[in-house]
Amino acid sequence: MLTDAQDLPVTTERPETVDAIDRFVHSFLGYGMDFQPILDAAEDDPACVVAQAHAAALMLFAETGDAADKAKPYIRRGIEAAQQVTERERLYLWTISTWAAGDYGMAMTAHKALAQKYPRDLAAIKIGQVRAFSLGDSAGILSLGEAGLAANAENHFAHGMIAFGYEQCHRLREAEAAGRKAVDMDRRDPWAHHAVAHVMETEGRIDEGLAWMQGLADTWENCNSFMYTHNWWHVALFHLDRDDHAAALETYDKRVWGRLKEYSQDQVNAVSLLARLQLRGVDVGDRWADVANYLAPRTDEHVDPFLDLHYLYGLAKAGRDAEAMRLITSLVAHAGKVKPVQQVMWQQVAVPTARALISYILGRFDEAADLLGQVLPNLHRIGGSHAQRDLFEQIHLDALMRAGRTEQARAIVERRLARRPNIAHIKRLAERLAA
Ligand SMILES: [Fe+2]
Repeated sequence: MLTDAQDLPVTTERPETVDAIDRFVHSFLGYGMDFQPILDAAEDDPACVVAQAHAAALMLFAETGDAADKAKPYIRRGIEAAQQVTERERLYLWTISTWAAGDYGMAMTAHKALAQKYPRDLAAIKIGQVRAFSLGDSAGILSLGEAGLAANAENHFAHGMIAFGYEQCHRLREAEAAGRKAVDMDRRDPWAHHAVAHVMETEGRIDEGLAWMQGLADTWENCNSFMYTHNWWHVALFHLDRDDHAAALETYDKRVWGRLKEYSQDQVNAVSLLARLQLRGVDVGDRWADVANYLAPRTDEHVDPFLDLHYLYGLAKAGRDAEAMRLITSLVAHAGKVKPVQQVMWQQVAVPTARALISYILGRFDEAADLLGQVLPNLHRIGGSHAQRDLFEQIHLDALMRAGRTEQARAIVERRLARRPNIAHIKRLAERLAA
């Protein structure tokens, strides 16, 4: 039995394994790319449950259609060794094996139990926050963050982790304070940068947000592609809200799209930004075509409804009708087979939202507005952040306006203007609707 950098016992006799675990945890919490050592350790130390579970988690984070299959050999080895290990290690393996099996409800139960009993395990808590995020469980993100911070106040990652939990629970002052605290402790914490950017975005503090992110962007070069493209996606949103469409497009071309085009999260950021640019009336040229080339092979994956809806929108926008229709058909079939805890998100939210997106793209604006109007109150069930899901509210608003449903559109614009009174684009919409 050895001890890792968090003072957590690890059942192994190999110091190299513990070193690989420490490197994994640091890289995972910091959105780095130093992941080969844990894969090597998982091979060299088959009886180390933590190494097997970390390696399995890495496979799952790839979010490919075969991610669960790739995680299986590690989980199998972990289960074989699990009789001999500590409760924390067994619980951690449980979180990963239930995630791989698609049982997110059970995974969350294990995550919450683990965080309560072993709050020093920040990597497990972070993975729990990601699971809660994918279930639209903002309270879960925060409660896990609270457990992590109480036991790790000396660790800047814990402050960044709770910051995002606060933000998703609309506790913006606490979110900003925790995010700034993390950055004061270590300037290179991209998740803390991101949490503060969310606060500034939500409050319409666009000049401040742009300066905040641009002032820290030099630290993102060695981030993994999700964090790199997502933080730049936030920069592009600030440009958009400043009516600087050229800068938003340049950010898309140079930062958001092109890092790792095969990765789900890079694709989500690209689709979401191109869609928002078009909603502002910006000509995006033939950019959809390149994104769609990478979406086309994903029609039958269904890793996550939030991903599927972005893939669908990108395919349909690029005119890849055959793939878009295949995705919808496959999505409906998948929605009929998921575990009970995920039925609402797939059947009652993802399927009607997918239909709404197609209706919108086909110019059936009344239908799109009706469908989106019905699902928006429950849209958080598909996961994603408030800022990410706002795309669907923007599409709903655009559908209402194009359908000539001025009163309904005006109510939404007034609400958006009250939240962010200084955004020129929203003011213009309000004036147009008033006229
Ligand atoms: Fe974000």
